[in-house]
Order: sequence, then structure tokens, then C-alpha cells
Amino acid sequence: MGIVPSSCCHSSASVGPDDAFAGKRVVITGATSGVGLLLAKRLAASGATVVGWGRNEAAMAEAEREALERGWSLRMMRCDVSSKREINERAEEVLDRFEGVVDLLVNNAGVTSGGKWITDLTDEEITKCVDVNLLAHFWTVRAFLPSMIKRDAGHVVTISSVAGIMGVAGLSDYCASKFGAFGLTESLRFELAKIGSKVGTTIVCPSYIDNGMGKDADVKCRSVFPLMTEDYVVRRILAAVARNQGLVVLPGTIKAAYAARLYPTSVYDRVVRAWANV
Ligand SMILES: NC(=O)c1ccc[n+]([C@@H]2O[C@H](COP(=O)([O-])OP(=O)(O)OC[C@H]3O[C@@H](n4cnc5c(N)ncnc54)[C@H](OP(=O)(O)O)[C@@H]3O)[C@@H](O)[C@H]2O)c1
Repeated sequence: MGIVPSSCCHSSASVGPDDAFAGKRVVITGATSGVGLLLAKRLAASGATVVGWGRNEAAMAEAEREALERGWSLRMMRCDVSSKREINERAEEVLDRFEGVVDLLVNNAGVTSGGKWITDLTDEEITKCVDVNLLAHFWTVRAFLPSMIKRDAGHVVTISSVAGIMGVAGLSDYCASKFGAFGLTESLRFELAKIGSKVGTTIVCPSYIDNGMGKDADVKCRSVFPLMTEDYVVRRILAAVARNQGLVVLPGTIKAAYAARLYPTSVYDRVVRAWANV
């Protein structure tokens, strides 16, 4: 793994900005709000050199203003990750700027069409969701991975979702894209193992986060799907990277519902419906 864990023995609760990421070169997609923005700030505050991608010009300017004020190395770049062309152009600029070295790629940008049934989704909504939440991961990984493999160091983080391991009614496009991102990264992990590479991967499957995308979610049982703070999610992501943990499911209680998959769908569906309004 490229991120040498100075914090590998810490509990997740104790992992905040720390030396594990000082001096590392990081690219984060969807860094203009939510988890991506907080990750970008946390990493920059810990001494990493961070490039954040997004489209919201005002949010990018504000993040750069704060970074300047605090003396962080955080640069924002406009990149619409639904465009393979833009990803490839920006990736080339980043590799130039970072002299070919990217230690950490975080594929975080994500969209949802907002709870529509499969027959109500427009073709454009389905395409956009798959472009941003899945295909963009192919293009960024294909742009940055070769240099990681060459150096035998680096780490790729995939922000999937609990909707990437469990189907949910009204989220077919989102679930399909998040299952896909999960599958891409799991395959990548095995491909890297086959060549004995030290490049690490982490798949993150959060349940609802108390922010724009997650706060209004209709959830039946808060003990299984409690709202998590962005701060908690970001700390768990950084701890997982520092430990080279392959999969993080948040909160861990979800694993009980997931385990019910081993049983017939009649049992699985009953368990999941009892817990959540899926
Ligand atoms: N919130 C939750 O409850 C929850 C739960 C599970 C998983 N997740 C996943 O966690 C990740 C972060 O979610 P969040 O809650 O932090 O969401 P958020 O606050 O809505 O942030 C989404 C980010 O994605 C970026 N983005 C969207 N479309 C883009 C595009 N075409 N090109 C470039 N950037 C784009 C947005 O930037 P611009 O607006 O600047 O384009 C924004 O920075 C997402 O992948 C999401 O699916 C969230």
C-alpha cells in the first residue's frame, strides 16, 4: 500500500488528521460539498497536497479561499465526471502537476435521481447516474492506476453505498451504479493481487449520512440505519485507507441484514423489509 499507516494501531475513533497523509498527493472527485469536501479539507489540513474535482464554481472558490487562509495545499479543478474527455484532460493536468505521482484517488462524486420508480426515470436520468456513479470510476482508475502500479504504491477509494450491496425500491439507477462501483473495485483488488501489487483499494458502503443526499431518507428503523455525521464517515474512510482495509460498511449493523442474503430471497426480503423501507 502506498499510504504508510502511522495510525495503523489506532482505533477508528482516534483517527483524525494525522501524519499518515502528510506529503501525500491526493485526487478527490466531487470535492465541492458533503463527504468529498470534508475529506479534501481534512487531508489538506493533515499536510497532503489535494486536488478536488467538481462543477460548482462558487463552492470551489470558497474552498480555495479557506485553504489559502489556513495555509493548506488544496486546489480545485472544474471537472464534470460524466464526461470521459474531461476526466482524461484533468487527469493529465494532475499527473503533470504531481510529476506522475498520485498516492490516493478517491472516487466520491455521486448523484441520485431522487427515489423514482424504474418506469418513471427518464433515459437521461439513468444515463447520468451510471455515468457519474460508475463509468467515471473506470475513467479515473484507468487514468491514474498505471502510474500507481509502476511505482507499486498508491490507493484507490471507491465511495459506493449500502445501496451498493442491497437493492432498494425507487433507487434502481442508483443501486445499479453503486453495485457496479463495488464490483469494479472488488475485481480491481483481485487484479492487483494477481500481479502482487502493493496498490491498495477500499470500498466504502455508507448508510444514510446527515447531509444533503441522506438527511431526508425515509427509513423505518433508525437502529439499523442511523444517520451518520459526515465527520464520522470521513474519519472511518481515512482510518480504512491508513490500515489498507478493503471494505468498510457503515454502520456495521448493516452486515447483519447483508448476511441474510445467504438465505432464500423470501427470508432475506422479510428481514430487510422488517428493518428498512426498501
Ligand atoms: N449522503 C448519503 O446519505 C450517502 C449515503 C451513501 C453513499 N453516499 C455516497 O457518498 C458520496 C458523497 O455523497 P454526499 O452525501 O457527500 O453528496 P453531496 O453532498 O451531494 O456531494 C456530491 C458531490 O458529487 C459531485 N458531483 C455530482 N455530479 C458530478 C459531476 N457530474 N461531475 C463532478 N462532480 C459531480 C458534486 O459536485 P458539483 O455539485 O460541484 O458537481 C458534489 O461535490 C456519493 O458518492 C454518494 O452517492 C452518500
